[in-house]
Amino acid sequence: MKLTSPLPGKKSSLDRVLNFYPGPGAIPFPVLERAHEEFFNFNGTGMSVMELSHRSPQIQNIIDDSAERIKRLMKLGDEFEVIFLQGGGSLQFLMVPMNFSGIGDRIDYIDTGYWAEKAIKAAKSLDRDLEVIASSADKDYTFVPDLNQIHIRKDTKYLHFCSNNTVVGTQFHQFPKLPVPIVVDMSSDFMSKVIDTTNLSCIYAHAQKNVGLSGVTVVLIRKEMLAGISDNLPELLDYRTHIKSRSNYHTPPCFSIYITWQILKWVEEDIGGLAELEKINHQKAELLYQCIDSHHLYNCAIEKASRSQMNAVFTLPTKELTQQFIQAAFEAGIVGVKGHRTRGGCRVSLYNGVSLRAVEGLVEFMERFAKKHKGK
Ligand SMILES: Cc1ncc(COP(=O)(O)O)c(C=O)c1O
Repeated sequence: MKLTSPLPGKKSSLDRVLNFYPGPGAIPFPVLERAHEEFFNFNGTGMSVMELSHRSPQIQNIIDDSAERIKRLMKLGDEFEVIFLQGGGSLQFLMVPMNFSGIGDRIDYIDTGYWAEKAIKAAKSLDRDLEVIASSADKDYTFVPDLNQIHIRKDTKYLHFCSNNTVVGTQFHQFPKLPVPIVVDMSSDFMSKVIDTTNLSCIYAHAQKNVGLSGVTVVLIRKEMLAGISDNLPELLDYRTHIKSRSNYHTPPCFSIYITWQILKWVEEDIGGLAELEKINHQKAELLYQCIDSHHLYNCAIEKASRSQMNAVFTLPTKELTQQFIQAAFEAGIVGVKGHRTRGGCRVSLYNGVSLRAVEGLVEFMERFAKKHKGK
C-alpha cells in the first residue's frame, strides 16, 4: 500500500484533510476549536478538564448536562434514563441480554451483518434461548428486513437489531410498534436525525461516530425495563448501578464525555437541533449517492430503500481501480474511503462531524476520477 502523507507540502496544523473514516472519525471543527481554547484552563478552574477529579462538581455537571441535552434534543421525557458507560458497543452486546433476560429466556435478534452478528454471538454465549428471526444474509446483507413482516416469538423478552450497519452500509429507517420491547444498537446513527422513540425500550451507541470520542458509550433505557433486572448481576454490569450513581460509579472517561458534551452543545446551539442536523446529513448522503448512481465506474449494491445515510458503500470494476481510487483520494487530501476488510471496495462515512463542504469536495474528486477512467 503506497499511502504516505496526504496534503504534501502543507505545513500548518490547520491544513486538514477531508476525513471519511468509519469511526473514530471527523469531529465538528467548532468543537475542536472550543476544546482547544479550553485545553489548559477549563472554565476558570486553572486546569484542563483531564486534570479535574471525576468527583468534582464540574465533571458531574458535564455528565448531568449531557444527559439533559440528549433528552431535550431527542424530546425524551422522564420515562427514559440516560447513562454514560465504558466498554464500547461491544460491552452492550453482553449487558443488554444480562440485564433484560435470564438464562434460558427467549430473546429474538435480527441479523443484518457484521455488528449484528457480533451482538448475536455475544448474547448466545450467555445461554439464552436466542433465535435469529429475520436475516438479510441470503442477499449478502444488501437490504434490511421489513420490521412489519417479522414474526417475533411468544414470550420473547426483547427484540434486538442494529439500526445502521456500519460495515455493509444499510439502515433501518423506521421503528414500528412491535409486541415486545425493542433494543437498538444505534452506534453508527445515534443523534444523526430525528427518531420516533415511542416504540423503543433501549438505545445504545458508542460515541466515536456521531457524538464524541471512543471511550464513552451512551445508553438510553426506558424506566419500565429496570423492573425486570435480576438482583444477581455483578454490580458493575447492572444498569441500575450507573443510573443511581449518575454515571459516576467508577472513574468515568471524563475527557470523552466532555467532547460528547461539546458536540451536544454544537448540535443544540450552533446547528439548531436534530431536525436541522438531519437536513444536512440527508443533503450529504443525497449528494454522494447521486454521484455514485450517475457514473458506471461506481456501483452501490445496496437496495435503495435500505441504503445507509451514514455509511455509503460502493465498488469499482476491479481491485486495481479500487486501489488507484483510494490512493488518488489520499493524495488529494481525502482519507478513510477504503471499505471494511471483510467487504473490500469503498466506504464513505458521513457522520455528524463531516461537513457538507467535505462531501462536495469528495464528490468533485469522484467526478474527476470517473471522467479520467471513463469506459473502464
Ligand atoms: C453498529 C456498531 N455496533 C457496535 C460496534 C462495536 O463498538 P465498539 O468498538 O465500541 O465496541 C460498532 C463498531 O464500529 C458498530 O459500528
